[in-house]
Parts: sequence; C-alpha cells; structure tokens
Amino acid sequence: MHQYSQGKFTTQGHKGIPEGHFEEEQGRKGFFGPVSHLIKPQPSTRWNNIEGPLRPHLYDLVEMAKSHGQWQRILFNSDVTISNYWLKPSDPTHAKAFRNADGDTLYFVHKGSGEIFTEFGLLKYKTGTYINIPKCVTHTLLPSEECQFLVIESHTSFYREPERGMVGRNAFYDPTSFGKPSLDEMHARMKEIGFSALEIQIKRNKEITRFTYNENVYDTVGWKGDFFPVTLHISDLMPLMSARVHLPPSAHTTFAANGFVVCTFLPRPLESDADALKVPFYHQNIDYDEVLFYHDGNFFSRDNLHAGMITFHPAGFPHGPHPKAVKNIGNKTHTDEVAVMVDTWQNLNVDPSLEKVELKDYWKSWMK
Ligand SMILES: [Fe+2]
Repeated sequence: MHQYSQGKFTTQGHKGIPEGHFEEEQGRKGFFGPVSHLIKPQPSTRWNNIEGPLRPHLYDLVEMAKSHGQWQRILFNSDVTISNYWLKPSDPTHAKAFRNADGDTLYFVHKGSGEIFTEFGLLKYKTGTYINIPKCVTHTLLPSEECQFLVIESHTSFYREPERGMVGRNAFYDPTSFGKPSLDEMHARMKEIGFSALEIQIKRNKEITRFTYNENVYDTVGWKGDFFPVTLHISDLMPLMSARVHLPPSAHTTFAANGFVVCTFLPRPLESDADALKVPFYHQNIDYDEVLFYHDGNFFSRDNLHAGMITFHPAGFPHGPHPKAVKNIGNKTHTDEVAVMVDTWQNLNVDPSLEKVELKDYWKSWMK
C-alpha cells in the first residue's frame, strides 16, 4: 500500500506531535508491518469502563505462594509457556538431572546465583542472566542461594538471535558475549562438591519420565558442534537508542522464536531532541499479546509497580504510558528500569492460579 495522509500529521513518527495532542500508532506485525500514526486530542486509554476479556491484567508474583522446585505456570499458548520458578540450595550429592522434551528453555534469573551442570559443561549464573538450554539438553541447576527464575519455554522452535538488519551483527549485544559451557570446570566442580547425577527426569507432554543410572550421567569427555547451551547477562546488552527519536520496543529484541519474541528493556538516556516523544508511544498491539515482567529499577511509564510484577496486555487493546508518567517526564534524562517483555502472535491463556495475585483495578490506572 502507498502512503496517504489527511488533516494534522507529522512527517516523522514519535516526533513533533502537535501541542495538546497525542499520537497513536496502529501497525501490523509488531513494529515491522504496515503502520499509521493517528493524531488525536486525547489518548485512546481514556476509557471510563471496560467489560470483557480484553481488560489488561497486572499480577504480583511476589505474592504467589512459593513452591520450590516446581515450575508455576503463569501464561501459555501452543508456542510458549511462561512460568515462575523458585529454587533453593540442597544437598548436591545426587541432585537430579532434567531434560525438557517439550521445548527450548530460557531461564531469566530474577534473583540469586548458582551453577548449571550440562552434558556440554558448566555454566554460571547470577541475577540478570538469561540461560538458554536447547530442547533435550540434560542439565541440573545447583543454586548457591535461593533463586527465582522466569522460565520461558519455546515449544515450536529453538531460540535465535534477533535479526539486526542495517545495524549489523554486533548491535545490541555481541555474539561473543554468550557464556559458553566449560567441560574442564564441570569435571573439577563435580569432584570438588561430590556431585554425581544418577537420575534424569524427562518432561514430554507435561509428564515426567524418570531414567535411573548406576553412574554419573555427566560423563562427556569432549564435544563439537553448534548446538549447546549458553548464557547471556543483561550487563552485556547495549541498548540501541536515537537521540532524535524514540525507538520501538523491537529495538530491544534479545531472542526470537516461532510465534514470539523476548525483549529486554534496560536503563538508557532519554531522547534529547526537544520535540521527540520521551515515553513509550500509545499504540494498539494489533497482532501481539504483550507480557512485561518487571525485574528491577523504577518503572517510570507505569504507576505503583514493583519488581516481581507482571502485566498482560491482550492484543486489540490500545495502551501507552500512564497519565502521571506523561506529566513527570519533563525532569527525567534517563530510564532506570529493567524489564523482560514477551510478545506472542497467538493468544495467551492465563493460568487460573494467577487469580489470587491479580491487582484487579489495573485497567483503571490509565484513567485520570
Ligand atoms: Fe505495547
């Protein structure tokens, strides 16, 4: 389709919005498809009531009863399952190994630190680490303190690096910054702590099958190839920004998979051009359900949020910054929030257990 415009419009999206007006982006395929910017005297988030399933949701995972060692499902569809996972240190002597035959597992470490033993070697993690364990890679997480993970399971594809297009292969993060497994370190650590895994629990179709052995299953003496687990820490992510114009959330894509993407929002300077929009733009997420997990910092575009909360914005619902954020932006030069976003093509379902930790009035938070 060719470009067309009527009435008041701006020649550059997210910039030079006429005084007293708001811009709303309506676009397909996230931020990659056909798109228009509508100029309106009031934001579309000025509803006085919402009835029906498109109400946005806010859940406080801090209030969720801890079930150590169990993945507590939060949101899911046929491509992805997002779970909350608490783990505490225990006797490592015969800690069990786990193999996920239901998909690739991306653990995001919200709290804590520890080691991951895998058939490919030892990996280490701390708060802010993504751990990417490909489908069926046998692994054991040994935490050195109580840990909380956001587990993002990809059921229909492996995780890929985002397409970086014209900014090149090293943009956002350099592939060299992936943490690689070390076999030598793993064998040394197993000896040091007396760890020998004699059981593998394999999850397939959400059911566990137990395979038991007489000898340690972590016995690899060498390997080659391009299929192996890695880590990526948020301190190795270099957020893209433009001094002149607000970049869309897709600029923060960290991993891509079939049917969804994982993005990381990190502290960064705000746009410096006087006429540049400095808060996230109002938009309708026409094609994607949006999930945002608040990891750390001050979440300036929303009121009354704390780390460990998660929001779910179903596709079809227009959203943008809260009125207070729009007002307060004048004094800010930087964002200092860290959040993980999962945008999904297929509709997400909410696990019934979340009902207990929902803040029911969230949908009102855009109302003045
Ligand atoms: Fe959004």
